[in-house]
Amino acid sequence: MSTINLFKPFKLKSLNLKNRIVMAPMTRSFSPNGVPTENVASYYAKRAAGDVGLILSEGTVINRVASSNDPNIPHFYGEESLAGWQHVINEVHAAGGAMGPQIWHMGIMENHHSGWHPAEPFEGASSFNKPGFANGKAMNETDIAETILAYGRAAADAKRLGFDCVEIHGAHGYLIDQFFWEATNDRTDIYGGKTLIERSKFAVDVIKEVKRQVGEDFTIILRLSQWKSSDYNNKLAKTPLEMDAWLTLLADAGVDIFHCSQRRFWEPEFEGSDLNFAGWAKKITGKATITVGSVGLSGEFLAAFRGESSVPSSLEELTRRLDRGDFDLVGVGRALLSDPNWAQKIRDDRSAELKGFSREALAQLV
Ligand SMILES: Cc1cc2nc3c(=O)[nH]c(=O)nc-3n(C[C@H](O)[C@H](O)[C@H](O)COP(=O)(O)O)c2cc1C
Repeated sequence: MSTINLFKPFKLKSLNLKNRIVMAPMTRSFSPNGVPTENVASYYAKRAAGDVGLILSEGTVINRVASSNDPNIPHFYGEESLAGWQHVINEVHAAGGAMGPQIWHMGIMENHHSGWHPAEPFEGASSFNKPGFANGKAMNETDIAETILAYGRAAADAKRLGFDCVEIHGAHGYLIDQFFWEATNDRTDIYGGKTLIERSKFAVDVIKEVKRQVGEDFTIILRLSQWKSSDYNNKLAKTPLEMDAWLTLLADAGVDIFHCSQRRFWEPEFEGSDLNFAGWAKKITGKATITVGSVGLSGEFLAAFRGESSVPSSLEELTRRLDRGDFDLVGVGRALLSDPNWAQKIRDDRSAELKGFSREALAQLV
């Protein structure tokens, strides 16, 4: 097995990466009142110094009163939070890295365990976060129009602060995904409908607004997942044909890179082919794609939240698919959360030094 293709440079519009390893976005909740601290800056700078090609920030929320359910999740708006992010990107660049924020609106959420809640009700496509659980209100036309603008504003701020790209969080059952999913979108206006294509209008409008505010040359990544945290087996696109129509629509709206979230990257997306989600997305759209999900680790991340530990595992299947051209970039979550030098250890074949992942790693920023 050779990892040589993992360490080839990658260039696309504003992105100029030294290798194909992408730090996956991971919420850490170490930003009191939404402001990223010095510790947050040094956490990301260590991954840059450790030769991660592209760092995607933890989800950072856009300027809507109810875009977050956690006061320690960073904002991507407001003077103090943006000054915090300015410091983050300066430190990452000084350490030789590249980075984009993952801009996020959570949509309808459960209340935070601390009892904290935003000053207005949660807002979503409908009042539902999953079948049978409502906790907020369906957005009206004005809410939707203002939210679309807020995504655009956050992306424009990312560009102004000097970030290398922006990622729109369209996955995992949060706001944009609540529009995609029929179980959480019962709207009868232009943002709802029986088909996935109809329910994609909100995402399309967000992407177009982001593009309008950042221009042609700033790389836009869209993160998608078929699965929801309340339904691992869900498929928004149930067939290759449906996926073709969906991703083509999103690509035409202005996506440069599809970040295809799976819990285990080796799982085929549809019967009859071993292609995974990122493989299909690249085949369908011709766009660059990022794969992700249990790279270099034995167990998947949602089980890790429940306390299951993971040990390092081989990259053989990953490199087979990368060498075959299935995807361009490789997202790595927990392995990089616990070890800032993971990329260097892989490059230099220091496998004996690789660490696993256990839930305790979440307690601090290392
Ligand atoms: C602590 C933690 C926080 C996460 N937060 C986010 C997030 O803010 N946004 C997101 O899109 N995915 C989030 N994820 C999912 C990761 O980006 C990634 O897809 C997942 O961990 C699978 O990659 P891995 O198996 O390499 O860890 C999170 C995962 C972890 C472990």
